Amino acid sequence: MRESLDTLRNEFLARIVDGASEQEVQRLRVEFLGRKGKLTLMFHRLKEVPPEERPGLGEALNELRGFVEGKLELRLTELKRREKERLLQAERVDITLPGSRWERGRVHPLTLVMDEITDVFVAMGFELARGPDIEDDYHNFEALNMPPDHPARDMQDTFFVSAARVLRTHTSPVQIRVMETRKPPLQVIAPGAVYRHDDDATHSPMFHQVEGFMVDSQIAFSDLKGVLTHFLRRVFRPETGVRFRPSFFPFTEPSAEVDIQCFLCDGKGMVQGQQACRVCKGTGWLEILGAGMIDPEVFRFVGYDAERVSGFAFGMGVERIAMLKYGIEDIRLFFQNELRFLRQFA
Ligand code: DAH
Repeated sequence: MRESLDTLRNEFLARIVDGASEQEVQRLRVEFLGRKGKLTLMFHRLKEVPPEERPGLGEALNELRGFVEGKLELRLTELKRREKERLLQAERVDITLPGSRWERGRVHPLTLVMDEITDVFVAMGFELARGPDIEDDYHNFEALNMPPDHPARDMQDTFFVSAARVLRTHTSPVQIRVMETRKPPLQVIAPGAVYRHDDDATHSPMFHQVEGFMVDSQIAFSDLKGVLTHFLRRVFRPETGVRFRPSFFPFTEPSAEVDIQCFLCDGKGMVQGQQACRVCKGTGWLEILGAGMIDPEVFRFVGYDAERVSGFAFGMGVERIAMLKYGIEDIRLFFQNELRFLRQFA
C-alpha cells in the first residue's frame, strides 16, 4: 500500500501541472478527494491492512491528503492572482493621457443676429409674433394689397405649394395675421424664415427676415424714423448715419428704403483715397430695410378703421445684416454647416 501511495502522489503531481485551469483543479479535487476519490478509497482500505501497520499508514495517508489539498489550494490562488493581473493589465488606464474635451456648442450666427435684433425691439416694448411658413395667397399677397395680377408679385419669386398656397415670400403676412385677431395698440416684431426662388452668393432660397409694425391712434412717420434710427445705431454703431429714401411697397404709403452709412469707408465711398469701397460699391450707403406707413387698404382688409388708426411697418433681411456685421461675402456659408466657419461666432 505504501507503494500505491507513492504512485498516487506521482500521478497527482503529474496532473497538477502549471497550466491546469480552475475546472481541472476542481476535477482533480473530486478525482482524489471526492467521496469516491482515489485517496478517499485508500482511507477505506486502511481496514484491510494489519493493525500494527495502520497508524504509520494512516499518518502517511493524512500527510498525502494534506499535500494534495495544499497543492490544489496553491494552484487556485495562483489562478486567481493571474486573473487579477490580467484584468489589471486589460483595464489599465494611462492617467498621463490628455483628457477628451466636451465640445462646447455654439449659437448659429444667424440666430445670434436674430436674437440681437429681437432684443433691441423688445427693449423698446415690442412683442414677438410668429406665422406659418406655408402661407395662403390671401395673407402673403392679397391682404397686403397685392391683388392677383399685381406686378409686385413678380418681384418675389414664389415657391408654390399648391395653386392657393405658397412658402411665404416675406414675413409681412404676420402683420395681417396679428391685426386680424387683435385690436390696436400693437407693437409687434415677427422674425422667421422666408422663401424665394433665388440662389447665388447673396441670395438663398431660404433666408430670414424680421418684420415689425406698430399701430395706434396717432402713429406718425417720425415714430418710424425714431424707432429705426435707434435700432440701427444699436445693431451697427452708435454714430451710424441713417437715411430714408422714398420707395414703393404695395402695403405701405408712403414707403421708404432705409440705408445706413457704410461702416468700412465711413460713408465716403472711397478707401485709401482712391479705391471705391468694396462694401458699399462706392456709394457710401448700405441698404438695410424696407419700411413705410401701413397702407389704409391693408387696414381695410383686417377690418380696422383707417380714419382712426395709423401705423408703420418695416422688414429686413437677417442674412444681409449678418453679412454686413461680420464681413461675410457669401450667404451660402450660413447653410453649409462648415464648422470652421460656424466656430468663429461666439
Ligand atoms: N416685405 C418686404 C420684402 O420682403 C419688406 C418690407 C418692406 C416689409 C416694407 C415691410 C415694409 O413691412 O413696410 O421685400
